[in-house]
Amino acid sequence: MGKLVWIIGLILCLVGLVKGRPSTFLQDFRVVWSGSHLRQISGGNGIQLILDRNSGCGFGSKYKYLFGRVSMKIKLVAGDSAGTVTAFYMNSDTNTVRDELDFEFLGNRSGQPYTVQTNVFARGKGDREQRVNLWFDPSADFHTYAIFWNHRIIIFSVDDVPIRVYKNNEARGVPFPKSQPMAVYSTLWEADDWATRGGLEKIDWSKAPFYAYYKDFDLEGCQVPGPASCASSTSNWWEGAAYQQLSPVQAARYHWVRANHMIYDYCTDKSRYSVAPPECLAGI
Ligand SMILES: *[C@@H]1O[C@H](CO)[C@@H](O)[C@H](O)[C@H]1NC(C)=O
Repeated sequence: MGKLVWIIGLILCLVGLVKGRPSTFLQDFRVVWSGSHLRQISGGNGIQLILDRNSGCGFGSKYKYLFGRVSMKIKLVAGDSAGTVTAFYMNSDTNTVRDELDFEFLGNRSGQPYTVQTNVFARGKGDREQRVNLWFDPSADFHTYAIFWNHRIIIFSVDDVPIRVYKNNEARGVPFPKSQPMAVYSTLWEADDWATRGGLEKIDWSKAPFYAYYKDFDLEGCQVPGPASCASSTSNWWEGAAYQQLSPVQAARYHWVRANHMIYDYCTDKSRYSVAPPECLAGI
């Protein structure tokens, strides 16, 4: 009996390893842009990104993933972060037909709310921005930001609170990212021509360098290159019946965010879309 428990434990442990959890920077990521501005902390379990007058920087996953859940804990630029943008996103890197799922954290003057912009690109078509003001100070502590993705639904969440949902609406002729694996990226850069109050608030370089911190990387999904059958396997946990739509608890939280913290939704922006795009009419 004791032996059986031990063997089951070993199997569970090996399955855990296959899923690559938990992951470290060295195991799963690489520098994509300006390694001199990127520093490992806590023995490689964390990373610090630096933005100064010379450069921003970025890192990305070594592999791509097709469906699954990716998350990391991030502590955003503290103090006067106006004009800075920290991003956490997935991208298929296929130019005009790219799929992309974006979190962009738009800095602000001290004491003003951080804004999270999300966007979804499918087959090269984006222009689906939504913006939410965070209900806490994301520079005071680490919070978990996650992208969940299966054949039916994509969910962006902050500390397990869904802030954005993009459903598979192929039946309405709306493309859904389902065939291109995506890599996971994060970057910190200057974008004071648009980021804060539409570009009115400029970056204050006297406050540089600006720092963002990352830890607890978790990449679960079908790794590419990897077994080709993985992405279509219904036995992956993220394809399970419980994950085909928001749970009642998730739905309640999502409605709370939309009612209290959403400040922009392309679906209701008549200056851009006189008729709301079809995915908007399908309901949240
Ligand atoms: C910054 O703060 C202003 C004033 O509170 C707010 O209107 C805006 O949504 C905030 N975020 C950005 C990115 O400008």
